[in-house]
Amino acid sequence: MHENPKLTVAMDGPSGSGKSSVAKEVARHFGLAYLDTGAMYRAATWHVLDQGISLDDKAAIAQAVKAMNLIFSCNPAEEEIMVGTRDIREAIRGEEVSNAVSAVASVPEVREHLIALQRSAIDHAMNGMVAEGRDITTVVAPDADARILLTASEEVRMRRRGLELADKGDSQDLTKQISERDAKDSKVNNFMQAAEGVELIDSSEMDFNETVNAVINSINAQVKAKRAAASNADELE
Ligand code: DC
Repeated sequence: MHENPKLTVAMDGPSGSGKSSVAKEVARHFGLAYLDTGAMYRAATWHVLDQGISLDDKAAIAQAVKAMNLIFSCNPAEEEIMVGTRDIREAIRGEEVSNAVSAVASVPEVREHLIALQRSAIDHAMNGMVAEGRDITTVVAPDADARILLTASEEVRMRRRGLELADKGDSQDLTKQISERDAKDSKVNNFMQAAEGVELIDSSEMDFNETVNAVINSINAQVKAKRAAASNADELE
């Protein structure tokens, strides 16, 4: 559907905006790879905790993250995330990692290192990729073909996350921790407001399929507009 074989989609949003499941579905729709950058920050955090490093020791955190052997797949159909030979898919979603991830993700060397890995994954994705996180539209891939900020009202986001966590047997109180985590993460990257050129999609009133359709329509429209602008520029030359 696109002449240019490679399509890069950048998607950001807060916790509970539904961006992971929506981004995966959008990747499947376009036949693209999928990158969950939050899972990378979670893996780094798991490793720091596993090594017994204090969350106050930024130098040790930076060193450990740079040295870790992180293996991740970019397949929207199956998540794979390992440090060395240890499969940490389940562990990175646990409360211990969730509570520590903001501290690890705010260390500049950690961000620098993971951003380099993310850019390399985007470059190597043959058909292109949907990459999602908090700083993809602004820092990791500001020149992506389509850039979207997916959000929802605080009430809706807490309800969605609360339901997910309740399903896993965790306490509803965790919604409070999630809003605190969003507040901490917002100090590192502004993912509550769309930067210039980033399309804001508010999914508060949409169900899953409607949100996926809204994102697909936005990607098609952004790609079309970019192509029209590029061919106008060609004609002017
Ligand atoms: O999307 P998530 O909840 O799995 O992300 C986990 C944490 O990682 C989140 O608290 C913020 C951080 N993160 C980040 O700082 N930058 C990203 N691009 C993605 C996630």
